[in-house]
Amino acid sequence: MSLKGASALKLLNKHEIRILVAIEVGMKTSQFIDIETIAKYSGYNQGKIEHWLKNCHKLNLVHRWSGHFTGYELTIHGYDLLALNALYEKGVIKSIGRERGVGKESRIFYALNNNDQEVLLKLHRVGFTSFHQVKKKRRYTANKHHISELYSSRLSAESEVKWLKIANEMNLPVPTYFDYNRHIIVMELIEGIDLVKVKNLDEPVEILENIVLFIKNAWSKANFVHGDLSEYNILLKSENLHPIIIDFPQSVDRSEKNANELLMRDIKNIISFFDRKYKLNTDINEIYNYVTN
Ligand SMILES: Nc1ncnc2c1ncn2[C@@H]1O[C@H](COP(=O)(O)OP(=O)(O)OP(=O)(O)O)[C@@H](O)[C@H]1O
Ligand SMILES: [Mg+2]
Repeated sequence: MSLKGASALKLLNKHEIRILVAIEVGMKTSQFIDIETIAKYSGYNQGKIEHWLKNCHKLNLVHRWSGHFTGYELTIHGYDLLALNALYEKGVIKSIGRERGVGKESRIFYALNNNDQEVLLKLHRVGFTSFHQVKKKRRYTANKHHISELYSSRLSAESEVKWLKIANEMNLPVPTYFDYNRHIIVMELIEGIDLVKVKNLDEPVEILENIVLFIKNAWSKANFVHGDLSEYNILLKSENLHPIIIDFPQSVDRSEKNANELLMRDIKNIISFFDRKYKLNTDINEIYNYVTN
């Protein structure tokens, strides 16, 4: 599936983009932004704004609400557009390719950076799981949750950026972080396969050991716990089958009160996957002690 915000970006002029930014600024304080406010933030006159807004509305970048006044808010496509535009302008990426997959809380795309290297874009999508349903319902409920969805998506991305950077600094086996804007992260594309999709492994114990070593180093050297570790968030590099750990928005600092619980859960998830699929018989407490000592 293509990305609406990306295709719309090619159709907008700089005034329309500025109007979207004005709406975004307005959304910090209210849900729907009226034309006067857009005029205030963009510096354009109302007639022109109405004309440009029509185009944005047609492209599904804004949502119009009519109640005791008429107001606008950004849709996730408008938000995608602003983030992508910023990444283009900054020279971080120059084009977007096909979609790699849809996660529970993200969409993943290939992209090219300015050196023509393939990179990976992760667009965070928090609260959009049953997007179409929600959207339908929203028309009637005056769209109560929309701001928080864009905002939550950005917070989720920011959390992931934070832990990715720390993991990079500590040389943990994770994708290299390149940049981010709003809810979109640009990172290294790992050529490999999801652990969960691998049919069989010749050396499962060695791979398990490497994953456990990641958990240990994250915990004891980088002071955090992944918090959502499972066979779904591990890639095996094609070249050497080394595990690369992904998906960090749920990570937490060791000092958080639920950190220990999350650590145990991560360990259990991984161990039970390997025990089940590769008929191992791992002692969880032994692993837990190894990780925490
Ligand atoms: N850096 C990367 N290189 C290659 N593939 C990646 C990378 N990051 C993510 N992917 C792919 O995209 C999928 C989803 O990414 P991720 O797990 O980070 O997001 P998610 O929203 O949590 O998805 P899910 O809900 O499926 O776990 C991964 O399972 C993996 O196949
Ligand atoms: Mg995941």
